[in-house]
Amino acid sequence: MILIDGKKAAAELREELKKEVANLKTKHNKVPGLTVILIGDMTPSQIYVRNKEKSANEVGLKSEVIRYPNTVEEKTVLEKIKELNQDETVSGILVQLPLPKHINKQKVIETIDPLKDVDGFHPMNVGNLSSGYESSVPCTPLGCYLLIKKIEPNLSGKKAVVVGRSNLNGKPMTQLLLKENCTVTVTHSKTKDLKAECLEADIIIAAVGIPELVKGDWVKKDTIVIDVGINKTDKGIVGDVDFDEVSKNAKALTPVPGGVGPMTIACLLKNTIDCFKRSQI
Ligand code: GUN
Repeated sequence: MILIDGKKAAAELREELKKEVANLKTKHNKVPGLTVILIGDMTPSQIYVRNKEKSANEVGLKSEVIRYPNTVEEKTVLEKIKELNQDETVSGILVQLPLPKHINKQKVIETIDPLKDVDGFHPMNVGNLSSGYESSVPCTPLGCYLLIKKIEPNLSGKKAVVVGRSNLNGKPMTQLLLKENCTVTVTHSKTKDLKAECLEADIIIAAVGIPELVKGDWVKKDTIVIDVGINKTDKGIVGDVDFDEVSKNAKALTPVPGGVGPMTIACLLKNTIDCFKRSQI
C-alpha cells in the first residue's frame, strides 16, 4: 500500500511556488498578495488563518489578515471586499468560512471579484470549472486532484466515486475528474448502496463528514482512496475512511492528518499566484 504523504507533496509544491514567486518578482518587480478576512474568534478558523498566513509568507507572497469582531455589520465587510477588489497589490481575497449567521455568505462570495476569488466559490468560477474553462478551483479538491495525479498520471476512463456532494468538495472534485475523462459517480446520504458503488471504483474520494464511513471491504485491491474528512471523535481526529481496514486493501491511501490537509493550503498559495499571473496579462 502506498501511504500518500500530503505533507511531503505540499512541501514540494511550496518549493516550486517559492521559485515561481521569485521569478515573478524579477519579471514584474512585485509579488502576488493574499488578503484573508477573518470574522469572529472561532478557534479552528483562527488556526487555519494563521497557517495560511505563515505559508504565504514562506513562499514570498505579500500576505495580510483583516480581522473583524463577530458583531461586524455585513455592509462593513462588503465595503472592504469592494475596496480590496480595486487594490492592485491584492491578487487574491479569501473570506474565511463559516460566517456569523447575520452575514449572507452568498452575498459575500458574489462581491469578491471572480478574478481574485482564490477559493473558487464565485458562481463565475463554479460555472467556468463545470464548462471546462480556466477558473480558480477550490483548494481542497485541487489538492486531492494533484495527489491522485502523482499516483496515476493518466486518469482517462478510470471509475471514480465521489462520496459527498458539497459545493466545497464533492461537486468541484467531480468536475475536475470529469475534465480528466474519468467516469464519475457522485454519491451522498440518500445513495441506496454506497458499498456497492465504492466496490466499482478505481478512485474513491471520501468527502462526506462521517467518521470512518468507508470500510475495508468497500474497496478493491487496486483502488486509490483519498480521505477529505476531518472528524472530531472520542479517539481524536479521524477521516471519513476507516484507515486501519482500508490500508490493508487499497493501492494508495491518504492519512488523516497529513494527507489532504497540507495540500489545501499549498493550493491556496498556488491559486493566489495563478490569479496574479492572469492579472498581469
Ligand atoms: N473554511 C474551511 N475551509 C475553507 C475554505 O476552503 N475556504 C474558506 N474561505 N473558508 C474555509
